[in-house]
Amino acid sequence: MTAFTPLYKWYNKHKRDLPWRHTNDPYLIWLSEVILQQTRVEQGLPYYLEFSQTFTTISQLAKAPEKKVMKMWQGLGYYSRATNMRHTAKLILSHYQGKFPSDYNSLIQLKGIGPYTAAAVSSFAANEAHAVVDGNVYRVLSRLFEIEEPINSQQGKKLFSEIATDILDKTNPALHNQAMMELGAMICKPQKPDCLECPLNLHCRACKSGRQSQFPVKMQKKKSISRFLNFIVVDTGKLTLLQKRSGKGIWQNLYEPPCIETKEIISNRLPQESIESLDVFRNINNLLFKRIFECKHQLTHQNIHAVFWVVHCKTSDIKDKNHYIKASWQNINQFAVHRLFDKFLKYYTLHHAS
Ligand code: ADE
Repeated sequence: MTAFTPLYKWYNKHKRDLPWRHTNDPYLIWLSEVILQQTRVEQGLPYYLEFSQTFTTISQLAKAPEKKVMKMWQGLGYYSRATNMRHTAKLILSHYQGKFPSDYNSLIQLKGIGPYTAAAVSSFAANEAHAVVDGNVYRVLSRLFEIEEPINSQQGKKLFSEIATDILDKTNPALHNQAMMELGAMICKPQKPDCLECPLNLHCRACKSGRQSQFPVKMQKKKSISRFLNFIVVDTGKLTLLQKRSGKGIWQNLYEPPCIETKEIISNRLPQESIESLDVFRNINNLLFKRIFECKHQLTHQNIHAVFWVVHCKTSDIKDKNHYIKASWQNINQFAVHRLFDKFLKYYTLHHAS
């Protein structure tokens, strides 16, 4: 019997029935952890079910076309997770005979797998004694011990990891880790924690002092920047033009119309030089760019203001440059697109499409 015995009893009685808790296949556990990074369980669950049913093995994921993986990921955000996941799957196929490792030391060497994911997969799949420290666990530990060190400082991360390792039940790390995460998600919530129901309330310093809302401590985040994006939606009646967003920034590998970024919001006319710099049209003099749709989108550290400009033109007005993809309106749903373009498409197909 330890101070954590009531936690394990509570977990066994009240845990949510989640599909990744019924497997010890390290591939499926990894898949669930990648989906659940930055995503709530309710939002991630249908994605996990679709991915795990479509790609039942890592080889199937490795062999899947990128387009299909991105399309399935659509709506989850943080798209580099999907790209990295596919890369890792390919590597497992080529270098590990398609067998996903379940030990921490092999996992941590894989690109895109950090200490959190390596601890989660190795403890859940192989019961290895590595403590998992996610946002929920940070909150539970910070309240339990009233830890004043910010959770987003280097020192804080080190301290929390040491404490989590200290209290880990080495005889059943999988149960301990799952129970800590579940407690954070269901009882020790960010707002209004349900301390009366908490199995650790007798040991919790913040519960005793009534300072629950002061934990976890966080350092001020850096300020968000504003970005102004103008999307040029070409409409020939049958076709539009798309590009695949490359580079390390937002919306990596998703499809979108040609885009002009400006220093401020453009309310009336797009500057001629900006349109010409896209190198899409033979001659823009007799073309009209109509400001059809505007929306805002908040990402971590970025406030995006997007304006969609529609230009009706003939196929012969378009320069035949290879870096744009001619996509037919009929098949546009096959492309993985970001949330802003998706919103525009829903609006446009309802109100304007020919
Ligand atoms: N969030 C991240 N990993 C999780 C898991 N294995 N179960 C529930 N929530 C989670």
